[in-house]
Amino acid sequence: MAFSHYYLLIFALCILYVESADDPSAQLCNENSNITTPEITKNIDSLLTKLVQATSQSGYSATTFGTDQTQVFGLAQCRGDVPNDECTSCIQNAAKEIKTLCPNRVDARLWYEYCFIRYNTKNFFGKVDTGYGVLYANVENVTDPETFNEALGALMYRTNLLAAAPGSKGVGTGETKLSDFVTLYALSQCTRDLSPLLCRQCLAIALGQTFCANKKGCRVIYSSCNIRYELYPFFFPLDEKLALESSSITHYMSLVRKP
Ligand SMILES: *[C@@H]1O[C@H](CO)[C@@H](O)[C@H](O)[C@H]1NC(C)=O
Ligand SMILES: *[C@@H]1O[C@H](CO)[C@@H](O)[C@H](O)[C@H]1NC(C)=O
Repeated sequence: MAFSHYYLLIFALCILYVESADDPSAQLCNENSNITTPEITKNIDSLLTKLVQATSQSGYSATTFGTDQTQVFGLAQCRGDVPNDECTSCIQNAAKEIKTLCPNRVDARLWYEYCFIRYNTKNFFGKVDTGYGVLYANVENVTDPETFNEALGALMYRTNLLAAAPGSKGVGTGETKLSDFVTLYALSQCTRDLSPLLCRQCLAIALGQTFCANKKGCRVIYSSCNIRYELYPFFFPLDEKLALESSSITHYMSLVRKP
């Protein structure tokens, strides 16, 4: 398949994944992107301030700071379903953490459950980037793959279209009843700099990950888009009690793919 040229870096089985909006879901501090001048460090600081301000207002910002060789490009986005106050605190924290986690790097990316932040001296706006990926899958398999996959495919077809639609804030969510007692929840998300076509292309790549095959829940996280599905609610408006009860007993395995 399309990903055969990616090297498997880390494959950790059966991590007990404790659901917390406070811990990053993924991070990338590109080792081949060392900061070369103090000017860039200054520009990153100014960029982060700009990003936090704008994203707190509208949930999304793609902007630059500086000129020529020291110009930095930054993008920050909250998940489109996340309430304003959660968005603001997520992005404030992310802007602080990304500098601590990725010191001296000009290509840094940090994913949280509720928000995403990224900067680089290279312009990455409007491009699909599925080179680096972090995947989480519930270790448990579904009992009836045929029925499950049909329902999942139909649901994610809808959430993908919603995420790519203008005015969606980059996110599409949906749910479908598998039985009287079981409901499947799905979320698709693209960074808002992508065109609808590129968003759908990115989501199609995410959905094609065999790592997720027949799993009760899965997440594929790329720089340009991500998908997630679970047998419990995890997006807003959130039934917190139901979400907590189900998610706290889930065991995940994870996979990091690097270009
Ligand atoms: C970047 O800097 C680190 C030390 O901070 C060094 O180990 C590494 O080799 C450098 N990478 C490149 C590509 O220069
Ligand atoms: C799930 O299915 C895969 C592939 O058939 C198998 O290797 C794995 O052991 C199964 N996992 C569980 C928890 O039953």
